[in-house]
Amino acid sequence: MNKFIKTEKEIQSLRRGGRILAQVLQEVARAVKPGVVSIDLNNLAEDRLRALGARPSFLHYQSEDLIYPASLCVSVNSEVVHGLPNQEKILKEGDIVSLDLGCWYEGVCTDHAITISVGQASPLAKKLIKITKTALAEALKKVKANAFTGDIGEAVQVYVEAQGFSVVRQLTGHGVGRAVHEPPSVPNFGQAGTGTKLLAGMVLAIEPMVNAGGYEVKTLADGWTVVTVDNSLSAHFEHTVLVTNQGYEILTGI
Ligand code: MF3
Ligand code: CO
Repeated sequence: MNKFIKTEKEIQSLRRGGRILAQVLQEVARAVKPGVVSIDLNNLAEDRLRALGARPSFLHYQSEDLIYPASLCVSVNSEVVHGLPNQEKILKEGDIVSLDLGCWYEGVCTDHAITISVGQASPLAKKLIKITKTALAEALKKVKANAFTGDIGEAVQVYVEAQGFSVVRQLTGHGVGRAVHEPPSVPNFGQAGTGTKLLAGMVLAIEPMVNAGGYEVKTLADGWTVVTVDNSLSAHFEHTVLVTNQGYEILTGI
């Protein structure tokens, strides 16, 4: 895992790129309201990234024989992640939506996601968002040189399940920086003391995905959109963080 440790120069660029990414995602979030068309959110994200000198990292991202056709992932209600923005997917009052965006800047990339309500959402939806956001905070508390990826997974799983929700197991967080997805994998479940040992200078995308029902998910026929099998609501938060000897530094903050 040593070869994934970032140089000081890369870290400086990750800080600048991560700040741009967070600013743009916040602008996109401010545009969310009932009636908004998901493709317009995608285009806003892409235009704003380019205006600030960054490039969308998900656009034309290749995974096996599939190519992601957009810059932003827009995942609504029972959609977990990788929801495709298009002309037909229109947000309505009471929906919850995960907005997931990545960018390249000065040769390195960062990854960031938030889930928000569209207008007024149900108490269950609001609770799910709050628990998922706190699950990411619980995960971050574990990040420090010499900790293990399993420490993060256990913290997320224990917290989320105590709230009566479940953690998606088929998808994980990941290393990031020189590629959109790098080792190590960062599961949101598991056992402390297992997995990969963290080293100062590693950069991780930590991204709990939490379902109101069961943890099972499946991918739709479009090849990308991941949904809950039981149709329950799902939420997702993600930060790119630098591992340090003292703990961590959030790179996708403002
Ligand atoms: N944050 C997501 C992930 O890490 C975004 C990837 S979308 C893709 O899986 F198109 F790039 F795959
Ligand atoms: Co990610």
